[in-house]
Amino acid sequence: MSIAIIGGTGLSKLDGFVLEKSHQVITPYGETSSPILSGHFDDTPVYFLARHGSPHQIPPHRINYRANIWALKSLGVKKVISVNAVGGIAEHMGPSHINIPDQIIDYTYRRNGSFCDDDKGMPMHIDFSDPFDEELRKIIIVQLKKLNLDSSMGGVYACTEGPRLESAAEINRLEKDGCDIVGMTVMPEASLAREKDIAYVSLSVVVNKAAGRSEKIITMDDIEEALKTGMANMHQLLRQSLPYV
Ligand code: HPA
Repeated sequence: MSIAIIGGTGLSKLDGFVLEKSHQVITPYGETSSPILSGHFDDTPVYFLARHGSPHQIPPHRINYRANIWALKSLGVKKVISVNAVGGIAEHMGPSHINIPDQIIDYTYRRNGSFCDDDKGMPMHIDFSDPFDEELRKIIIVQLKKLNLDSSMGGVYACTEGPRLESAAEINRLEKDGCDIVGMTVMPEASLAREKDIAYVSLSVVVNKAAGRSEKIITMDDIEEALKTGMANMHQLLRQSLPYV
């Protein structure tokens, strides 16, 4: 079994996942967000990790990204499909829109972002020109195009520190930087995966218009509402894609 799904906000459980085993991996970095589950999603063997814990309790800036990626690697994972809830910056990215980003700008500032600190033998300067695995992206894009979902392929993911949402001025700045979506969880997850030679792709689901991009303030109720449709669509996409990954 070499594929793992890391579920974010709204996806701490995979409907249709048949659990076989729960792995409490001991890592040099401490505890993973939750036990890593192995089982089948439809007919595909997969690992599943709830990034924010199960139940959802760990905020983005407190996630032990190093423990999570280290543990997945130790189980033999070669490919990670990461599901991320995001705010939409680009005009056409409203609630429930799915985007498969191809670039990242990292605005986080207080996270442990590398295994290089103490994991001897780690390459110091990984190539990160294309932060997401192109092969994995292409496979999922082919499947996404078959589904009649509000979606787009390619975009720049801004990763902010959180846990607060951004100010409108911050979003204006991110837009000027070329960002299309904004979330808090892809970094350093994506670069840690690259350090461990794990192919990584993000399936990002818009759950709100980013700050200052709609008349209304952003409420958790509105986010929850968008998550329902967004994650139902995400299940369809995962179901459709996994046999080809
Ligand atoms: N900003 C940052 N992260 C997010 C947002 C947002 O608007 N929505 C969901 N995750």
